[in-house]
Amino acid sequence: MAEIQIKNIAKNFGSYQALHDINLTIADQEFMVLLGASGCGKSTLLRIIAGLETATTGEVWIGGRRVDHLSPKDRGISMVFQNYAVFPHLTVFENIGFGLRMQKLPDDEVTRRVERTAGLMHIDQLLKRYSGELSGGQRQRVAVARALAMEPDVILMDEPLSNLDALLRLEMRAELKGVLADSKTTAIYVTHDQVEAMSLADRISVMHQGRIVQAATPIEVYRNPAAEFVAGFIGNPPMNFLPATPSGDGKWQVAGQVLDGPTSRSAPLQFAVRPEDIRPADSGLTATAKVVEPLGAHLLVTCEVEGTMFRAVLDSDLTVHVGDQLTLAPQPDRIRWFDPETTLAVA
Ligand SMILES: Nc1ncnc2c1ncn2[C@@H]1O[C@H](COP(=O)(O)OP(=O)(O)OP(=O)(O)O)[C@@H](O)[C@H]1O
Ligand SMILES: [Mg+2]
Repeated sequence: MAEIQIKNIAKNFGSYQALHDINLTIADQEFMVLLGASGCGKSTLLRIIAGLETATTGEVWIGGRRVDHLSPKDRGISMVFQNYAVFPHLTVFENIGFGLRMQKLPDDEVTRRVERTAGLMHIDQLLKRYSGELSGGQRQRVAVARALAMEPDVILMDEPLSNLDALLRLEMRAELKGVLADSKTTAIYVTHDQVEAMSLADRISVMHQGRIVQAATPIEVYRNPAAEFVAGFIGNPPMNFLPATPSGDGKWQVAGQVLDGPTSRSAPLQFAVRPEDIRPADSGLTATAKVVEPLGAHLLVTCEVEGTMFRAVLDSDLTVHVGDQLTLAPQPDRIRWFDPETTLAVA
């Protein structure tokens, strides 16, 4: 059992507050992804859980015991660092087996685990090479294999695939997902790549400026973003926003159209819809096409709606020219509303 609880964690670096009151429980064997832009505090939080950094306030619990006072090696975790520390003067085999040797496991068990994890990471051909002779992407895979070989209760990974090319990254992502689903490991995985986050996570914690803005399943984060920041961060392209003014009885004026919306509000809101939840229709928002990008599977059209940029992902069979006037209807059940004061979603 390795549930992880993070209670009221804050972190100051001098006068700079990198983390604000973080509370998060990661279930035993859950795959949690920390997602956010550069500098939002992902690595800092991971390093606090690992014990490589001390929190200014708050507590970390792993498997029902408080671990703040324990050194990293006593916390039952394996970690893959953002700058993957592998020992250049050791072979790939000895790097992957390093922690196992420290645990004094028998030679045949070390060999079995090294070969298995090297195979998973597609570096089994490199076992005799010195790690100093490897490419960045190969070294990164050594670091991941070394962490997996420990068969830990908890694995913490900080951007572990960032140095791989797109195709290998896709392949390794699937491998990692498979390996961790088959193991009993609780995983926390840091990335700024939302596709990677969506693909791997049981739940995603979206971080922004040292806070967790939303922690939910990938589909929930995508469909029901809790705040404007999440709506604008998740999805490629992100959600569209337009100002909405109330016209009574749950009717809202959005760019000259009347749409059904929240009945409980009387002050202006932000209307939001995903580019893929918009269809050309007989009635809807009037949009002028500004940029037309055929992306193969879809046609991405960047428009202007009453002076606001508005993107639509349309059927690739449609013909749209720059300057065309389009009538675009948002799918009613996919519309979301945000409070411009708090930036939070309106139920
Ligand atoms: N040792 C330190 N001293 C001072 N400030 C630090 C220190 N470590 C991190 N910070 C600051 O804390 C903030 C969070 O850093 P952190 O490394 O956690 O970001 P991150 O989300 O991992 O970003 P990236 O995606 O770029 O790795 C940043 O503004 C960073 O400059
Ligand atoms: Mg980082």
